[in-house]
Order: sequence, then structure tokens, then C-alpha cells
Amino acid sequence: MATIQFEKVCKTFGPTAALRDVEFSAGDGEFVVLVGPSGCGKSTALRLVAGLGEPDSGRVLIDGRNMTGVAPKDRGCAMVFQSYALYPHWTVFDNLAFPLKLRHHRKDHIEERVKKIASELRLTDVLTRRPKELSGGQRQRVAVGRAMAADPGIFLFDEPLSNLDAPLRASMRVEIVTRQKSMHKTTLYVTHDQAEALTMADRVVVLDQGRVQGIGHPEQLYRNPPNRFVASFLGRPTINLLTGEIVETDGKFLLNPFDWVLPNDVVSRLQLERHQTVQVGVRAEDLILTAGKGRVTWKVLTREFLGDKLLYHTQSGEWNLALLASPDHSLEPGATISIGPEPAKIMFFDVNDGHRLA
Ligand SMILES: Nc1ncnc2c1ncn2[C@@H]1O[C@H](COP(=O)(O)OP(=O)(O)O)[C@@H](O)[C@H]1O
Ligand SMILES: [Mg+2]
Repeated sequence: MATIQFEKVCKTFGPTAALRDVEFSAGDGEFVVLVGPSGCGKSTALRLVAGLGEPDSGRVLIDGRNMTGVAPKDRGCAMVFQSYALYPHWTVFDNLAFPLKLRHHRKDHIEERVKKIASELRLTDVLTRRPKELSGGQRQRVAVGRAMAADPGIFLFDEPLSNLDAPLRASMRVEIVTRQKSMHKTTLYVTHDQAEALTMADRVVVLDQGRVQGIGHPEQLYRNPPNRFVASFLGRPTINLLTGEIVETDGKFLLNPFDWVLPNDVVSRLQLERHQTVQVGVRAEDLILTAGKGRVTWKVLTREFLGDKLLYHTQSGEWNLALLASPDHSLEPGATISIGPEPAKIMFFDVNDGHRLA
């Protein structure tokens, strides 16, 4: 049983506020991903859990116990770094055995345990090699294996897949999640890659400039982001953001200059006013190619074949829209089309601070 809790954690380095009032938790056995752009404070947060630093204010709790002043070795955490931090002159066997030797396990027990982990991680054939004689994926698995050997209550991962090529990254995602689920170990996983966050996490914590911007299950955060930052950080292609004015004609509400009809119930629920300027967000898959030519037309700039979908980049005046469509009816660059949103999928944001109008 292991839980992690951040309570109003602040951490500064000189003039840089790395973490500002950070609050989130990870339940027992939960896989929580901290995601955000480079420099947003992810590694700092992870290091505070491991005990490689202390908060300036606020508390980090493990199993409800304040960790201030508790030595790293007494926190029950094992960490996997982006650089893997393997001992270069030691064999794979010795790297895997290290946490067990540190705990003075018996030699036969160490051997048995290392062999078991090696077999689980497909490292049996390379136990006598040194790290430089391994592929990137094998090194990554040794780093994971060494963390497993420590048999921690909590796994901490800091961008563990960043050095791998794309296909290997995809398969290691599956491997790490499968292993985490079968071991049921509370895991805090740091990445700048939104796809990793959405595919791997039970729950995602989005950070920006040291602040938590959103917490939720991947689908929930993707479909129902609390603000513009989360909406545009999660999802590829990036969500379409357009700024327009609410106008009323013939009892219908439109978003101009796009000539998009807004459902009356949404307008009244969000208390949108006539002539109010709002920013709307619509995901590429929530845009529809509308039949006939509307008042506003969009020109197809490029067309990307994605297998099951086509991704169009389109333009109208100063505005751009990315649209995902079925590959059945292919449009060529230069084509002129009309585009409308699926009304229920439009998100409205405050133009100034970006909070979601809901
Ligand atoms: N030891 C340190 N000394 C000075 N500044 C630091 C130190 N560690 C982190 N920072 C700064 O704190 C901010 C957050 O860093 P970090 O947590 O490493 O971000 P991330 O892992 O999200 O890329 C950055 O601006 C970084 O430069
Ligand atoms: Mg980092």
C-alpha cells in the first residue's frame, strides 16, 4: 500500500519558481502521469518525492506521512531516469543486483531474483554484457529492472522513453503499463509527451510554469479541459482555436465571422451575450465538411494521409483550421470547402485568461 500526496508544494531555485502551490495525489496502485512543457517543474516534483530535495513550503506525504527530513532510502521509492544512470563498468547482472546487494540479501537469493527479473524483461541473454554493448531498448529495460529489483512501494519515472526511437517507444509504453498493472505499484511518471500521458495514465496532472493546470482521467481532460492551456496541450493535431463574436440574427445565434450556428441552449447555459467576444476550441475530429457552399469558405492547403483518416490543413483569410475526415472522399489541395463544428463539441474559453466557460 502506497499513496502520494502533494499539499501546496512550492519550490524555487533563485529567481525561478519551479513549483507553485502544487496539489495532487496518487492513490494506491495508481499510474499518475505528470505532463507539461520542458521546464514546467516535472522533474522537480518527482525529485521531491524521491527525497532528492525538499519543498520550500507545503508538504509531500507518502502513505499520509510527511516526508520532510526523511532520507531518500527510507521513502520506499525507486527511480528510473531518462539517462538510465546505469553503472557503465558493471555487467547487466551486477546492475540488476545492486539494489539487492545494498540491502544485504543472500547471494543465492540475489541470483534467483536477478534471473527472474532478467527473464521477465527479456535480458537473460545479455546478463554478462556491459551497458555500452546493449541497444537503447535493452538499456531502458535494465534501468526498469534495477528499479524492480529494489521492490519499492513507489515507482518514479523521469522521461524514461525519450531516448528511444518511435516504434520502440510505443512498445515500451505498453510494456511499462502492463508491468505496472500486474505489480499494482503506485507510479508517478514524468513526460513532456502528451501522447504518452494520454495513453499510459490512469490520471494525468498537467503542469505549466510550476502550476497545476488540470487533473483528470485522460479522456475526461481531453474532452472536458478546464482551460485553454490543457485543451491545446493535449491532443494532436492541436485543437483549433478561433476568436469570434456572438451575434443574433432571426432568433439564431451565430459565431462571426465564421457563420457558425450556436445552439440556443448552449448560449443561454453559458450566458453568452450578444456582441461578446469569445474564443472557441474545436478538435479536428469534431469538424464537419458541410455540404454546399456557406457564406464562409475554407481553402485546403495540405492533405495528410494518416491511414484511417485524412488530415486537412485549411485556411480562410487569417484563420486556419485542421480537419480530420474519412478518407472516402479525398479533397485535393486548392479545393474550396465549407466547414462547421459539431455543435455539442464546441468549447468556449474566456478570451483573456483562457478559463473554460462552462
Ligand atoms: N537545481 C536547480 N537549480 C536551478 N534551477 C533549477 C534547478 N532545477 C530546476 N531548475 C529550474 O526549475 C524549473 C523547472 O525545472 P524542471 O523541474 O527540471 O522542469 P522539467 O522537468 O519540467 O523540464 C526550470 O526553470 C529549471 O531551470
Ligand atoms: Mg525534467
